[in-house]
Amino acid sequence: MKSKVSRRTFTTAAAVSSMSALSASRVYGANNKVLLGFIGCGNRGDQLIDAFNATPEILLRGLSDLSDAYLKHAIGKTTGFINTKKDYRELLEDKDMDAVVIATPDHWHALQTIEALQAGKHVYIEKPLSLTVAEGRAMVEAANKAKKVVQVGFHRRSSNVCKEAVDMIKKGEIGDVTMVRCFHTQNEYPLGIGNPTDDSKPPEKLDWDKWVGPAAMKPYNENRAFYRFRWFYDFSGGQVTNSGAQYLDLVHWALGVNAPLSVAALGGKLVIKDNREIPDTLEVIYQYPNTVVSFTQVSTNSAAGCAIPGNDIEFRGTKGTMYISNKNFTIIPETQYGVPLPAQTPLDRTLMQKYRGSGKVQSRGIQRNGNTDLHWHTRNFVAAILADKTPNCPIEDGHRSTTAALLGNIALKKKALLEWDAKTEQVTNHKDANALLKYDYRPPYKFPV
Ligand SMILES: NC(=O)c1ccc[n+]([C@@H]2O[C@H](COP(=O)([O-])OP(=O)(O)OC[C@H]3O[C@@H](n4cnc5c(N)ncnc54)[C@H](O)[C@@H]3O)[C@@H](O)[C@H]2O)c1
Repeated sequence: MKSKVSRRTFTTAAAVSSMSALSASRVYGANNKVLLGFIGCGNRGDQLIDAFNATPEILLRGLSDLSDAYLKHAIGKTTGFINTKKDYRELLEDKDMDAVVIATPDHWHALQTIEALQAGKHVYIEKPLSLTVAEGRAMVEAANKAKKVVQVGFHRRSSNVCKEAVDMIKKGEIGDVTMVRCFHTQNEYPLGIGNPTDDSKPPEKLDWDKWVGPAAMKPYNENRAFYRFRWFYDFSGGQVTNSGAQYLDLVHWALGVNAPLSVAALGGKLVIKDNREIPDTLEVIYQYPNTVVSFTQVSTNSAAGCAIPGNDIEFRGTKGTMYISNKNFTIIPETQYGVPLPAQTPLDRTLMQKYRGSGKVQSRGIQRNGNTDLHWHTRNFVAAILADKTPNCPIEDGHRSTTAALLGNIALKKKALLEWDAKTEQVTNHKDANALLKYDYRPPYKFPV
């Protein structure tokens, strides 16, 4: 991968020592600094600014957001010259900027990533990669053409704990994994996000037309805007792409797969009375070559998800079950592994007791606790730029994980079991479903090619 990184003087002792820690396994020039711009300084953008500010090899160079309040807040976290633009295109004109971090609503990800790549920037793009499958593919192609580093914000890829868990699964520590269950649970009952009217007033100076961008124009509603756009399909894929894509990314990574063979989904807005478009209850089931994977979204109950609360993914293997979150994992070993199951008979009731008691523990019960992974993911992006290396979550992987999540929504909309050809990225048994792999951009915006 070829990248051109501007060389700039980088002097403080603290910064140099921290860089040594980061570069322990990588070799790159001593006086580099990556000049970074931010597109989207809201909830996630703010967390990313903090994470990148803790990375001495970067210098915050520019900020873009549609909100004056968020821009002002972000400027407060910077020192020195900051190029501040409401229009991200003007930010991309800054020739000294090496890379951009994009944390805007999902419907903006494709255009902004592709334009940033065309402007010669490396890109850290938040998950989910895109709003549609066709956008994701166009983004991959743009990245391949630009030969720049693109890190997708599936941050578990940079978590030591997740890496150890994935390595154990790959090594067969929990045996053959035939079932994975992923949970997003959050009790939003009964009011959910509320029911503001469509004519609620936009915050002062918010350019709603720009927010909507390439999506179909809808009247301003405070729920369609900051943070809550996640509950509306024009701007997001809902919880299956918000959280589900993160889980599916870990599943792909651990099982060494990148696409389901088929997918089905059931669910709906069953009890919550707000103006959301997405379901409050959803079950998506995927068939992978050797594993059934499910994503469960329960927005009406949160006490019980995985059997071990606090985890969101459960890998069920022939030798053990692994429960995992972004910073912990626990393995519960199987005891019946390899023991033949007797036929139950009234003549000898001890056979079953012997079977239950005779199992050997095949793997250790293990528990790991770790730290949050975001800093390592942002540092990995910077290190990849400086070392001209592939980052931990390359765009093709991010696209495949996002695609699996997006297919869940298409299956729900079509009420059908969809068969997926990952090579052509087409549904093979339902022609109409393919129309949902893409949408028509609102003029003057053009679908990126
Ligand atoms: N990796 C994670 O764990 C994680 C966590 C939270 C959010 N995210 C992702 O980050 C993205 C942003 O989510 P959020 O929670 O920060 O939402 P948010 O609404 O708080 O922030 C989005 C920001 O983008 C700005 N924006 C919108 N259109 C823009 C444009 N054309 N140019 C410049 N700025 C524009 C908005 O003004 C807003 O400040 C989403 O894709 C979300 O899925 C990822």
